[in-house]
Parts: sequence; C-alpha cells; structure tokens
Amino acid sequence: MSRTRSLSDIDIQMDKVIREVTFRILRYNGTGEPPTERDYTVPVKRGMTVLDGLLYIKENLDGSVSFRYSCRMGVCGSCGMIINGKPALACQTQILDLDRDVITLRPMDNYPNIKDLVPDLTNLFEKHRRIKPYIIRPDRQELDHPTREYAQSPEELEAFLQFTYCIKCGLCLSACPTVATDPQFIGPQALGQLARYMIDNRDANFDERCDLVDDVHGVWRCHFAGACTEVCPKGVDPALGAQLVKHYILKHHWFGMKKKVTQLIPETVSGTRREGIPEPPPRTVESTT
Ligand code: SF4
Ligand code: FES
Repeated sequence: MSRTRSLSDIDIQMDKVIREVTFRILRYNGTGEPPTERDYTVPVKRGMTVLDGLLYIKENLDGSVSFRYSCRMGVCGSCGMIINGKPALACQTQILDLDRDVITLRPMDNYPNIKDLVPDLTNLFEKHRRIKPYIIRPDRQELDHPTREYAQSPEELEAFLQFTYCIKCGLCLSACPTVATDPQFIGPQALGQLARYMIDNRDANFDERCDLVDDVHGVWRCHFAGACTEVCPKGVDPALGAQLVKHYILKHHWFGMKKKVTQLIPETVSGTRREGIPEPPPRTVESTT
C-alpha cells in the first residue's frame, strides 16, 4: 500500500549522505610563496552547493581556508571562483550536478589574489566607477530635489533592464581573454553598465560616456569572444553591451548622426531579452512626461 511521504521522511532524505567528494583547493597564504593544492573530503547531501561544502570544510576540517560569501543565494556577488576550470558562483553550483569525485577550486583569474579563494576586486570596482554608474542630468537642482516623477514606459525600461541584473560578481572579467592580455582594458562588466546608462532615456550624458571608453584600452579592445556572457550567472549579456557601445560611438558620436537616446532603442536593442530574464514589473503610475 502506498503511503504519503511525511515532512520528516523528506528531512531524513535531505540529511542522507549520498556520496563523498574531494574538494581540491588551491591554497595561497598571501606571502608570495607559490600556491599549493590541498585535498579535503566532503560528505555530500542532496541540495548541497559548493559553498556549503566549503563551509563544511571550514567548520569541521580546516578553519584556515579562506573564501568570500554573504547572501548564499546568488544575489550579493561575493562567492565567484573557478570551479572545475570555469568561473561560477559557489552558492549557485550544486555539488551533485557536477557529478565528479574531485572538484577543483581556485581563485578567479585576472585578479591579484589575497588568500586562497579570495581575489582582490579593486580593479573591477574601479572600472565600474569609471563609467559613472548613475543617472546624470544637466539640471542638478532638479536631480537633488526632484519636483516630479520621471516615469518610463515599459518599452523604455525593457531596453536596458537586463543590464540592471548585474551583481558585480566579476566572473565576466575572469573569463575575458582580453582582460587576461590587457589588464587596463575597461572590461565587460563596465561596458554592460555603460550601455545601460547610454540607453536609459533619463540620462543626459551620452557624449561624455562615449569619450570615457573611446581609447586604446576602451571598448575597441573587445573582440567579441563572448566568454563574459557565457559565464554570467544573472543572464546579463555584457558582450552585447560592448557591441552596442561601439555602435553608439561610431554612428552617433563619431559620425554625428545625432538622435535622442530614446530613438536608439527600437533599432538596436529591442528583442534582446535573454532566457531567464524576468519580465519588467507592471507600471505603477501613468507617465507625467
Ligand atoms: S555582468 Fe554578469 S558576470 Fe559580469 S559582474 Fe555582472 S553579474 Fe557578474
Ligand atoms: S554568497 Fe552571495 S552570490 Fe554567492
């Protein structure tokens, strides 16, 4: 006779060790000595992520293993690392999905390393800061003390929405072959965010934004390898962002085909929503513009 599974049955199932997996971690002590690999055996239960495995090691086997994390749910962008050779978030990677007896972990490429799995992300944030990631308007008084709401239509929001899902994890820079050969290259994260503000019809800083990346280490260094988009855990398409920035600089900045930024949207960006990107929220107010 079949029996309905109770909550405690499910608890027992979740608590069952399914297999043992070796975590092979590249350890670096921060003193300049060459890093060395060290193995740890982790008992794996259903639902355990790579981050859970690391926490098991820290709590039970070796408290000196260093890694970053905060939200444990793919939101804060702290836990990026190279898992079995690929840039990924530790909290979003299920151990059983990897289906390996040995999981290799090393810090993200293209960043200086501080210790073990903790990279120095100063470069990432400095490049992001360089593109001025905020709305700029000429009417400073109105910006600081707005007198009305600057509502956008669903289409205007849709045009840049995907880029707003960036969590600044830095995985795209780690995957980028151009960053690997030119550390000064502005990089995919910043270019995706630059496209986001160029498209946003509330922003009035189009020409200055073009100048920010129109140089030898700027957008032209991107040769569209697409690795950034491939690894992005949030479904953002920074490779598309870079190509849009090139298009905007060539057509509207260099060749003077001046248009309002809103007019850039339909011809270049519509229909670029990637799988997994949620629909924009419904409008809450009618536009007052
Ligand atoms: S674009 Fe994607 S991979 Fe790059 S920093 Fe943002 S969320 Fe991370
Ligand atoms: S811990 Fe926040 S993204 Fe992984």
